[in-house]
Amino acid sequence: MQMLALIAYLSDKPCRSVSVSELRPGLLLCFMLCHDLLNSTKLLDPPGDPSSSRIRSSANSVLFSPSGIGWPNSAKNSGRLALAFSYFQNASNSTSLLIIFIVWFPMTDSSSALRYNGLQGKVAIVTGGASGIGEATARLFAQHGTRMVVIADIQDQLGHQVATSIGVDKCSYIHCDVADEHQVKSLVESTVQRHGQLHIMFSNAGILSPSEQTVLDLDFSQFDPLFAINVRGMALCVKHAARAMVEGRVRGSIVCTGSVAASNGGKKRTDYCMSKHAVLGLVRSASVQLGVHGIRVNCVSPNALATPLTINALGKSVEEIEKTYETYARLKGSVLNVKDVADAVLFLTCNEFVSGLDLLVDGSFVGSTS
Ligand SMILES: NC(=O)c1ccc[n+]([C@@H]2O[C@H](COP(=O)([O-])OP(=O)(O)OC[C@H]3O[C@@H](n4cnc5c(N)ncnc54)[C@H](O)[C@@H]3O)[C@@H](O)[C@H]2O)c1
Repeated sequence: MQMLALIAYLSDKPCRSVSVSELRPGLLLCFMLCHDLLNSTKLLDPPGDPSSSRIRSSANSVLFSPSGIGWPNSAKNSGRLALAFSYFQNASNSTSLLIIFIVWFPMTDSSSALRYNGLQGKVAIVTGGASGIGEATARLFAQHGTRMVVIADIQDQLGHQVATSIGVDKCSYIHCDVADEHQVKSLVESTVQRHGQLHIMFSNAGILSPSEQTVLDLDFSQFDPLFAINVRGMALCVKHAARAMVEGRVRGSIVCTGSVAASNGGKKRTDYCMSKHAVLGLVRSASVQLGVHGIRVNCVSPNALATPLTINALGKSVEEIEKTYETYARLKGSVLNVKDVADAVLFLTCNEFVSGLDLLVDGSFVGSTS
């Protein structure tokens, strides 16, 4: 038997790394089963030819990582497809058979490009954790060993669903409108009461205005609620998380979600752009003031990506939005997704000496040209 194994990783994204050694035992088993099957059924033996009653075998394998083959981004990031082609031939070279194996390797807990132990036993709050970037980060925190992730959001049904799917022993949901100081204070206090401490605050909840909000047409009935969530809400979360950390003598980590909009002006969404500039000011001031307590404060600033926020605002499908946003980055061959942002938050949360940083997750944003 001659055998050729060709294994293709149909993803150019760094997700779960499936090693050759991991694949080979599975493939070997497949080949042994095929070999036995072919021998026992005499499938490759021409009738009446006793000299060819054995199948000859040898083995080779090749690995490669093709990119840009049009595989949907969502599928790329949920796992990898391995293809194996096997060529069998009987002893007299008169009959041959090609068998194709297709194996799907779903992403698992170890799928993050980064591995950190810094979250073991920690308690985290994730605002806006019912959806998008917050949801992905809550899941990643839980995968990396947080003792408890508290999701705070206003989408109660979705929030409960996400918490339950992560596991009620590792994640809970609390209704909290971040624009309301009483609710934010109560969120932080109840977290400390139930779980002993607060180590991590990922202040992420944010919204877009429903209209374009150019300077000439600024509508303050949209401007004010946006600022209440994106600016006041961020400040409230930082304030109350920092107070709990100082009181509990916790050398905690606070991460706020900014945006590339904080580094540039824009043709529209003036209120949003202003609000993200304010987040950066908050993070920089808080990192200066809280350093004395050992509390780190950082900002994660994503480029545009497909989440319910943008899907609802633009009224397009994920694929359409990803196609549009591909042009926003100079980095080609990859589309920003929530996992990329969650990985950056994980880094900011676990690194012991980074503070006051605005970490751009933008694939070199095209808007930043001079
Ligand atoms: N999607 C993008 O293109 C993009 C780019 C840069 C920055 N961001 C920022 O990322 C953050 C998360 O957005 P996303 O894209 O994941 O959107 P998303 O809509 O999927 O998630 C935002 C979450 O915040 C929650 N929320 C809204 N108002 C709230 C309030 N008052 N109190 C508590 N929770 C509230 C929503 O219910 C939702 O679950 C936002 O701050 C957004 O400005 C998004």
